[in-house]
Amino acid sequence: PTGATDTATAVAHPNIALIKYWGKRDERLILPRTDSLSMTLDIFPTTTRVHLAPGADHDEVTLGGTPAEGEARRRIVTFLDLVRERSGVADRAVVDTENTVPTGAGLASSASGFAALAVAAAAAYGLDLEAIALSRLARRGSGSASRSLFGDFVVWHAGRETGTDEEADLSSYAEPVPTGPLDPALVVAVVNAGPKDVSSRAAMRRTVDTSPLYEPWALSSKGDLAEMRRALGRGDLEAVGEIAERNALGMHATMLAARPAVRYMSPASLTVLDSVLQLRRDGVAAYATMDAGPNVKVLCRAADADRVADTVRAAAQGGAVHIARPGPGARLLTEDG
Ligand code: PMV
Repeated sequence: PTGATDTATAVAHPNIALIKYWGKRDERLILPRTDSLSMTLDIFPTTTRVHLAPGADHDEVTLGGTPAEGEARRRIVTFLDLVRERSGVADRAVVDTENTVPTGAGLASSASGFAALAVAAAAAYGLDLEAIALSRLARRGSGSASRSLFGDFVVWHAGRETGTDEEADLSSYAEPVPTGPLDPALVVAVVNAGPKDVSSRAAMRRTVDTSPLYEPWALSSKGDLAEMRRALGRGDLEAVGEIAERNALGMHATMLAARPAVRYMSPASLTVLDSVLQLRRDGVAAYATMDAGPNVKVLCRAADADRVADTVRAAAQGGAVHIARPGPGARLLTEDG
């Protein structure tokens, strides 16, 4: 069939949400309950190569050179099935992924991973899609991946809640958010690089199903998003940071109230959160956010990033600290075939 290029390689960067995605309204289509908003990073890229293997009877998937197994493999094969269904090309594929970020540790490896896979697989299978359509495709791999299609600040629309599945699917995509002058940095404190006990997928489901705090958070997150857009628009880093921090801590509160509780914060996370409070008392604009893991990301001005990194490193009890700036959207590297 037309347009398939045989082999394609794509690179994508992780994104960190300032307004969190937490909770699905449709598990199959990966439609979120709320809009979310993130910054794409310029560190920890994922590079993924997809090569069609006509005649092969199964997909061959490696992560960092090691064959993928279990849930990780199943999710990638399910995603390739969707691309095969859309393209009408039934070939199996060889997929090689190189992550530069610890996998499954709340450092957004699934966001960069499925964004890179969506771009590479679409090209290899001959699907000619615009960035917005690619973001909808990436969403089917991992919700947060929809946002890594774009660079800098990005909003992911929850989409239409009434109407058909197709209308909902078409209206849930990510796009860039214009901002005023911000010059932000995100200091990433890796307090534990090991994989998490509870996947974000399972934790989200449990929270929506059992947490009495979920609905109030989802409602307040709507207001947070509107305020966040205004704060970004006027380049108000203090307001951006305050809104991001309360939105993230609120999300963690919903999980703590789930039955049974999901707790990603560790003693080391709290020590880093304390150091962020101390930075603010010392007059440095620094604000924390956390995802489905114990690691802490600190938003600050680029000019303050070294100082923030030093403080956070001292608090992170030997953990690595990385400084990220706004990064690029996902892109195709090579095309041959
Ligand atoms: O895309 P997932 O299923 O890995 O979920 C990501 C959820 C959070 O990282 C906690 C929040 C977010 O918006 O990225």
